[in-house]
Amino acid sequence: MRRDLKAYNIFDLRGLALKRVPKGLFEFVDRGTEDEVSLRNNRAVFDRIRFRPRTMVDVSKRDPATTIFGVEHRMPLVIAPTGTAGLMWFEGELALARAAKAAGIPFTLATASMTALERVADEAGGELWFQLYLWPDRRMSHELVERAKAAGYKALVVTVDGASAGNREYNLHNGFTIPFTYSPRAVFDILRHPRWLATTMLRYLLTTGMPVYRNYPAEARARLTAGPMGRTSLRTDSLNWGDLDALRKIWPHKLIVKGMLDPDDAATAVDHGADGIDVSNHGGRNLDGIISPIEVLPEIVDRIGRRATVFVDSGFRRGSDVVKAIALGADAVMVGRSTLYGVAAGGFDGAARALEIYYEEIRRVMALLGCSTLAELGPQYLKIADPDLFSDPSGRPALRVVDDERGAAE
Ligand SMILES: Cc1cc2nc3c(=O)[nH]c(=O)nc-3n(C[C@H](O)[C@H](O)[C@H](O)COP(=O)(O)O)c2cc1C
Repeated sequence: MRRDLKAYNIFDLRGLALKRVPKGLFEFVDRGTEDEVSLRNNRAVFDRIRFRPRTMVDVSKRDPATTIFGVEHRMPLVIAPTGTAGLMWFEGELALARAAKAAGIPFTLATASMTALERVADEAGGELWFQLYLWPDRRMSHELVERAKAAGYKALVVTVDGASAGNREYNLHNGFTIPFTYSPRAVFDILRHPRWLATTMLRYLLTTGMPVYRNYPAEARARLTAGPMGRTSLRTDSLNWGDLDALRKIWPHKLIVKGMLDPDDAATAVDHGADGIDVSNHGGRNLDGIISPIEVLPEIVDRIGRRATVFVDSGFRRGSDVVKAIALGADAVMVGRSTLYGVAAGGFDGAARALEIYYEEIRRVMALLGCSTLAELGPQYLKIADPDLFSDPSGRPALRVVDDERGAAE
């Protein structure tokens, strides 16, 4: 029997998460970088796109199911990788993976997880993808990829937009670090959130010990010293196309490149063997002032949509946002914070509620648009309220009607 969380939309789940988890953790999930211009724009772009519905259409059998890489999923949603999900709830990654499985969608486990990738595969199951941050020592990264392969992960999601950690100044103010340190500010913050302390932190301390990055080899873990959240995960600033070629050689399943916003980059990635591109600005968590993925989505679909699967993320909170992205040519949407708010609010129940909200909202929008399947969706259902929204630097309008060939590329 699932708990009734009294959450009717993703923003309600955010409110519940805000109450339950310490401020330092909540801010790590919720906020952006520097002046948070990109964070705000990621939401604002959706207001610049409006729906043009059709009526007198029988939508009684509507179904948001979709096929991604030959596998049918219940809706066009994927849970995005979010390191430290395991701090929102005890073994939060397991809760997220189980919620994804129950909702019939893929779950992406982050490199920087608090639960080892093998345990998630053994104990949660479902369609599992693994996100990779390449480390300076490529040998260590390739060993991690081998572990993901051995554990049965179906897709490798290589994140390429993190050459440096984003400038998260709030993290310096709130005193939360990874690995956790007992600074007066962090301890005070935790004591003000006794439910989180009892059900998450104490449970770790009494069972598996202080949460750490479980996918990191012991040699790498030992080298980590406590620092502001998000700054201690290892990363490389020398990523290049040769790295993608090397991964393509050792990874036999689907390869997705996450964090591209330029059509040339996306096309080159496909030339180097990528099966999918995730058009993303990392949820406004890296470079402030960066464009929103929605602003370049049509251009990228136009360039690679016939050759690769196009995912998009950053700023999605509503089923209507998802429907807009599909109408602009995306194959599926990745959600980060939406399900993190859910898991922070109520573990599996909260994450499952977030996905249920999306399912209900997508179906409602489809009904009100006069659409029975996602395949029918296209720009004809949209009105772009801002004529500059999609123009590329040359001024050429990039929004085109996507023809039928795209589906055949899968
Ligand atoms: C708390 C948090 C941690 C994240 N950690 C990772 C990560 O480890 N690897 C990665 O590729 N993306 C990471 N992301 C980015 C998400 O995968 C995704 O791009 C972003 O959350 C999408 O925006 P949204 O949160 O508005 O849905 C993280 C996002 C959040 C909110």
